[in-house]
Amino acid sequence: MLLDTLTKGFRKTVIAGNWKMNKTPSEAKALLEEIIPLVKDASCEVVACVPYVDLATALEVTQGTNIKIGAENCHWAESGAFTGEISAGMLKEIGVEYVVIGHSERRQYFGETDETVNKRVKAALAAGLKPIVCVGELLWERECDITTEVISRQLKLDLWGVTAEEMKNVVIAYEPVWAIGTGKTATAEQAEEVCEFIRMCLKAKYGLEIASGVTIQYGGSMNDANAAELLMKSNVDGGLIGGASLVAEKFAAIVDAAKPAEY
Ligand code: 13P
Repeated sequence: MLLDTLTKGFRKTVIAGNWKMNKTPSEAKALLEEIIPLVKDASCEVVACVPYVDLATALEVTQGTNIKIGAENCHWAESGAFTGEISAGMLKEIGVEYVVIGHSERRQYFGETDETVNKRVKAALAAGLKPIVCVGELLWERECDITTEVISRQLKLDLWGVTAEEMKNVVIAYEPVWAIGTGKTATAEQAEEVCEFIRMCLKAKYGLEIASGVTIQYGGSMNDANAAELLMKSNVDGGLIGGASLVAEKFAAIVDAAKPAEY
């Protein structure tokens, strides 16, 4: 798509680590201290999404650096009787900027549905956070050739009621579930095909201008060896990195691979 090739340079490239349930606060401090000098000249947005208990430490350690901090989830209510939950407002107040919403592990293990994803996305936006909304098909769904139906349905439901203006603060992460933590990366062509489809869905709903501006990440076994090829694709504007984000040199190499292409 010629237009996307041309507009890619204007979109924000976002390389985000999703640490999942890894690193205690002292380990988080050590890892971030390793990462900071390695990514200081990054040409893209660098984000570390860390466990709740690491947030305060992460925010302190990264103060004055180019690393933004994200959480891995938030609740949809502003406050109330939701034992064990954290609101978007709580995250915003301490300085968190991004929040991962609807990760497949939350859908798979914690009963997350498109309805709750949608409520969390809206709460995050209302609080002034930037949600990284995760979509992606199961292996079985890909084998049954319904990937586009699955993605289209997730986008419709997850973004229900989200306005065009709000979309300027939304990042979409395409994470094929079969590629997460398996070492099986989608090929660059497979990633591009679905990321392009996502942009088409966004265009149908929000129009060309908004759709062209949305950052669409790929996630699923992205690493220092395959990042450059994936990030070269017209509609792949970044990465959501699991395992490789826990190793400073690997994460930094991915950030490096996100240097803008010259057209
Ligand atoms: P891996 O990079 O470990 O496959 O994890 C991807 C992911 O789930 C990021 O959110």
